[in-house]
Amino acid sequence: MTQPMRVGVVGCGIIAGRYVKDSPAFEHWQPVACADLDTAVTESFAAEHGLRGLTIDALIADPEIELVLNLTPPKVHAALVRAALAGGKHVYTEKPLAATAAEGRELVVEAEELGLRLGCAPDTFLGSAYETGRRLIEEGAIGRPLGAAATMLVGGPDGWHPNAEMFYRAGGGPLLDIAPYYLTAIVSLLGPIASVAGFTETPTPERTLGAGPRAGEVITVDVPTHAATVLRLERGGLATMTVSFEARDQYLSGLVVYGSTGSLVLPDANGFGGDVILRRGRDDVETVKYASRGAQETRGLGIEELVESLRAGRPHRASGALALHVLEAAEAAVRAGDERRAVELDPS
Ligand SMILES: NC(=O)c1ccc[n+]([C@@H]2O[C@H](COP(=O)([O-])OP(=O)(O)OC[C@H]3O[C@@H](n4cnc5c(N)ncnc54)[C@H](O)[C@@H]3O)[C@@H](O)[C@H]2O)c1
Repeated sequence: MTQPMRVGVVGCGIIAGRYVKDSPAFEHWQPVACADLDTAVTESFAAEHGLRGLTIDALIADPEIELVLNLTPPKVHAALVRAALAGGKHVYTEKPLAATAAEGRELVVEAEELGLRLGCAPDTFLGSAYETGRRLIEEGAIGRPLGAAATMLVGGPDGWHPNAEMFYRAGGGPLLDIAPYYLTAIVSLLGPIASVAGFTETPTPERTLGAGPRAGEVITVDVPTHAATVLRLERGGLATMTVSFEARDQYLSGLVVYGSTGSLVLPDANGFGGDVILRRGRDDVETVKYASRGAQETRGLGIEELVESLRAGRPHRASGALALHVLEAAEAAVRAGDERRAVELDPS
């Protein structure tokens, strides 16, 4: 049996705990070491999870480690990914791929030139609910796809996240932080995005941090916090997406895909599992049964699929190229709002 790929985790914050705790579900990768900018955080995370605590440079230079899992703040992503690739490591990074599409493009090119794999969250579209939706659409269960309506409205991370400021700076906001769940799902289900239009707002230009050492501090907001976006799809079809950090104490998240003969209601793309509801015509409504992947229905599935694909010599699905397309679409939605015009994306 082949050994699991040994993974070094960089950035030992909130989401790192989730990845590491859930990793025993996966056969093909295993976290073995960790590093954080804050050495006290490295040490406590290493002790809590039985990992080797290293400096970032030592982790990237470590010959045992084949893949770096980058769980740092968005503005750090590009530099960290670049350093890991330069050190000869495959990389899987949290979303967004980078704070700007220009940086993201360089990373995709660098990984290709070095012959290394670059993967990027989200991987929820690989879960069995969304894969069931993809299969149904391919089989023609809703006829010819017409488009989709995606919504993800939350109050924003300032209420609960100890480092929430990063989500109100470049690389953050709902369009770069949470829209990737739905942009990725739409591309997976209906194909690439050709152009983007829409409006953005920032109804709450200041936020009071609600958690962590800076609780009570007021910060200004640099990014739009509410967006209504329209996507024209390359294969035909129009989708809408509303994402928001303005829906206080609320969590509304889901996707409906419309077709010429039916529709498909898909669950929260910021998670795994949930009901897949197929409606054919007016009255024929079915909750579709599907097989779950069990404990593998969690963050880290994209790394599993990347390592399996690498070993099988095929492309992986939660790829840097897909994440770049999603980042370009998210950035285009910001620009469309700023400039009050539709923004064309480069054809895929
Ligand atoms: N928190 C969530 O629910 C969640 C969910 C999905 C995705 N994510 C994504 O995961 C990433 C991390 O988010 P988080 O919530 O875990 O943040 P966090 O603030 O809890 O953790 C980030 C960690 O990175 C460290 N760090 C900062 N700069 C660094 C650098 N240059 N080198 C190494 N370490 C550095 C920080 O010290 C901190 O420990 C973000 O891209 C975020 O979008 C978060």
